[in-house]
Amino acid sequence: MNNKIGIFDSGLGGLTILKELINILPNEDYYFIEDSMNNPYGEKDEEELLKITSDVVENLLKEKCKIIVIACNTATTSCMKKLKEKYKDTIFVGTVPAIKVAYDNNYKKTLILSTPYTMKSKRVNELLRDYKNEDQEIYNVSGENLASLIENDNQEEIKKLLEKILSPYKNKIDSIVLGCTHYPLVKKQIQAILKDVAIIDGSIGVAKEVKHQLELNNLLNSKNTRGDIKIFNNKSLDLTKRSYDILNSK
Ligand code: DGL
Repeated sequence: MNNKIGIFDSGLGGLTILKELINILPNEDYYFIEDSMNNPYGEKDEEELLKITSDVVENLLKEKCKIIVIACNTATTSCMKKLKEKYKDTIFVGTVPAIKVAYDNNYKKTLILSTPYTMKSKRVNELLRDYKNEDQEIYNVSGENLASLIENDNQEEIKKLLEKILSPYKNKIDSIVLGCTHYPLVKKQIQAILKDVAIIDGSIGVAKEVKHQLELNNLLNSKNTRGDIKIFNNKSLDLTKRSYDILNSK
C-alpha cells in the first residue's frame, strides 16, 4: 500500500530513526513532523504530552499515513499506550531505551541516559525488571536540558553538560544506552568523554520493527523507485532546512 510512513519527534532527534528507516525501506515515502514548538517533551507531564502528541498524530492521519512511528522515547514511554487506545485503527511503532540490547550483549555496567520523563517512567522500570542481567549494575541517569541544547545546536553548552553528566562514570561503565533520539546526534562528543565504552541506541531496532509491521499488515510500498521524504518543522523553515542538510550529510 503506497501511503506514507508518518514519523514524529519533538524536533530533529527523529532523524536518527528516519535515517535507519530510509536504509532498510528506501522505496517508502516519509512524512516527518518535527514538533520543535513543543520541545522539550522530556520536561513535561503526561497530560500535556498526550494533548501535544494527539495533535501531531491527527496531523499525520490527515496526511493518510499508513503507520505512525513515534521516534521519541519520551512520547512512547508517556503516551503510546493511550494513543493506541485513542486511535484504534492506527498502527503505532514506538521507541524505548535499548535496555534489551545491553542485556543481550551481556554488559555488566550500563549507564542509561534519557530525558527526565523517560528516566522516571513506568516503562523504563518494566524494561529494567525484564532485561537487567543479574550481575549487571545500572545507572539510570537523566540528561536534563540536553535534548534542548541539541535541538538548539548549542555545541559549547552541550560539551559542558556532557562533561558534567558523564564524568562520574568515566572508567566505571562498559556501555551506555542512549535513551533519547536526540542523543545519537552527539555520539562523537559522548565517545570523546567515555572513550572505549559501547554506545547503544535503538534506532535500527525501531526501523526493523516498522518493516516487520508493514510486512505483517501487507502494507509495504510496491514502488521500485526511491521514495519521497518530506520533513515539516512546525517552528521554522530554517530548522526544516537544517534537518534536510543533516539527513543528506550522512
Ligand atoms: N527526542 C525525544 C526522546 O527521544 C525527546 C527530547 C525532548 O524533547 O525532551 O525522548
